[in-house]
Amino acid sequence: MRPWFSCFLLTLTTLVRVTNATTEYTGTDCNPINETCSADPALGTEHTWLFNSTLDSTLWDMETGTLDYTTEGADFTIKTENASTLLVSNFYIFFGVMEAHVKMAKGAGIISSVILQSDDLDEIDWEWVGYNTSGVQSDFFGKGNTTTSDRGGYHAVSNADTEFHNYTSYWDKDRLEWWIDGDLVRTVNYSEPLTVYGKNYPQTPCQVKVSNWPVGIVGQSQGNLDWGGGLVNWTNLPFTMTVSKIRVQDFATGKEYKYSGHSGSYESIEIVSGNSTAVTELNKEPAETLAEKWDDLGEAAHIGVYAGSGVAGALLIGAFMFYCWKQRRNGRLQRALDDGQFSSELTTLEQSKLRWRQSELRNKGTYQPVP
Ligand SMILES: *[C@@H]1O[C@H](CO)[C@@H](O)[C@H](O)[C@H]1NC(C)=O
Ligand SMILES: *[C@@H]1O[C@H](CO)[C@@H](O)[C@H](O)[C@H]1NC(C)=O
Ligand SMILES: *[C@@H]1O[C@H](CO)[C@@H](O)[C@H](O)[C@H]1NC(C)=O
Ligand SMILES: *[C@@H]1O[C@H](CO)[C@@H](O)[C@H](O)[C@H]1NC(C)=O
Ligand SMILES: *[C@@H]1O[C@H](CO)[C@@H](O)[C@H](O)[C@H]1NC(C)=O
Ligand SMILES: *[C@@H]1O[C@H](CO)[C@@H](O)[C@H](O)[C@H]1NC(C)=O
Ligand SMILES: *[C@@H]1O[C@H](CO)[C@@H](O)[C@H](O)[C@H]1NC(C)=O
Ligand SMILES: *[C@@H]1O[C@H](CO)[C@@H](O)[C@H](O)[C@H]1NC(C)=O
Ligand SMILES: *[C@@H]1O[C@H](CO)[C@@H](O)[C@H](O)[C@H]1NC(C)=O
Repeated sequence: MRPWFSCFLLTLTTLVRVTNATTEYTGTDCNPINETCSADPALGTEHTWLFNSTLDSTLWDMETGTLDYTTEGADFTIKTENASTLLVSNFYIFFGVMEAHVKMAKGAGIISSVILQSDDLDEIDWEWVGYNTSGVQSDFFGKGNTTTSDRGGYHAVSNADTEFHNYTSYWDKDRLEWWIDGDLVRTVNYSEPLTVYGKNYPQTPCQVKVSNWPVGIVGQSQGNLDWGGGLVNWTNLPFTMTVSKIRVQDFATGKEYKYSGHSGSYESIEIVSGNSTAVTELNKEPAETLAEKWDDLGEAAHIGVYAGSGVAGALLIGAFMFYCWKQRRNGRLQRALDDGQFSSELTTLEQSKLRWRQSELRNKGTYQPVP
């Protein structure tokens, strides 16, 4: 189909569709530890997203880059120098399970990651450093505390770049577990020295964040470069991480999660009852196609539309074509901007991870393998 024509159809479909309320991305712009923030929309259920067809944009937001869908999953690809990709869920889970089936991106200086992160910067991580295709790192943070540097773990995985493996995080108020292909590889209890006896245990509602991004950029600190395996060799573009599916289970049910007070403890989280936007969206009938909508109109309406479409149609089509032409320009411009992203414009997520990594490295020199 000609691009302008598919845009025309898309626009028409959008006009015909009764649009649902959209969920706004809240991110970590507001930190409930010292600010009063709006409530977090809940997932409130369990769902598996197959990444081989377009993700529902009500539930997922592409912050940087684009996804390329194939029959086996979605490719998170760094296509140009300094570019990055970041997918963020619009929903939060308040304890639960995240099961990701991933092929990491291979290449020195490239980081693939699948994490849970809360508004007050609790975090549960899977991270693959691109120079090592036989391992994955586990990590966690509580309230963004980076004073200590002994939380990271190394775990062996074979052919992590060419084979999908099942990386599952299990998280409840008592313990945190990392599983690879059905094997428990690490447990952290709520109360132990690593969590500052619960104080820095991840315990607030988290979003799912998936990204592929370059740490090996000129100007980056030596510690971060060492962690990532040196500078990215840009002649080896593209760098692709593939996700085939992600299952997310929310242990709480409700409409949204609210911080009451500023302690960041799980006891301070208020579960607002009701149906979550996510549940409503997931239970929605699949959208009708344009042809089905046309059929639904009936014979009389068809004739009316044919008759009326002479003059009005010509005007409308002209307007649509102009709009589509503009959209294509915006699209191309946007892509050029995204692709030209400088390291100084990495997302907040990536920057905070770098700061944290830096503090880990400054304090310890390197991660401590988990026995
Ligand atoms: C909240 O605390 C963070 C980290 O301590 C700080 O960077 C930020 O400026 C504070 N925000 C407000 C509104 O006080
Ligand atoms: C996506 O993957 C599922 C499970 O492997 C398969 O049943 C389905 O046909 C695939 N869909 C597309 C669009 O490739
Ligand atoms: C890759 O990671 C695995 C698991 O931590 C480790 O055993 C292996 O030595 C690492 N390989 C390299 C080249 O660093
Ligand atoms: C941060 O972690 C350090 C080391 O574990 C701990 O001593 C400190 O109390 C923590 N800070 C906060 C604000 O929880
Ligand atoms: C992935 O691993 C988790 C944890 O072991 C397990 O519960 C789940 O069933 C596994 N998924 C698949 C598709 O095998
Ligand atoms: C975690 O708790 C379990 C019992 O619930 C205990 O067996 C295990 O040793 C604890 N692990 C750590 C690291 O404290
Ligand atoms: C990538 O980022 C580095 C460091 O900021 C910069 O020197 C370089 O020019 C950037 N490259 C491109 C193509 O933007
Ligand atoms: C970058 O990769 C290319 C192609 O693999 C290789 O020829 C070149 O030597 C590499 N450059 C560096 C600096 O390693
Ligand atoms: C939630 O959804 C159920 C089933 O769709 C409906 O019966 C119920 O009224 C809804 N509750 C609220 C608070 O909207």
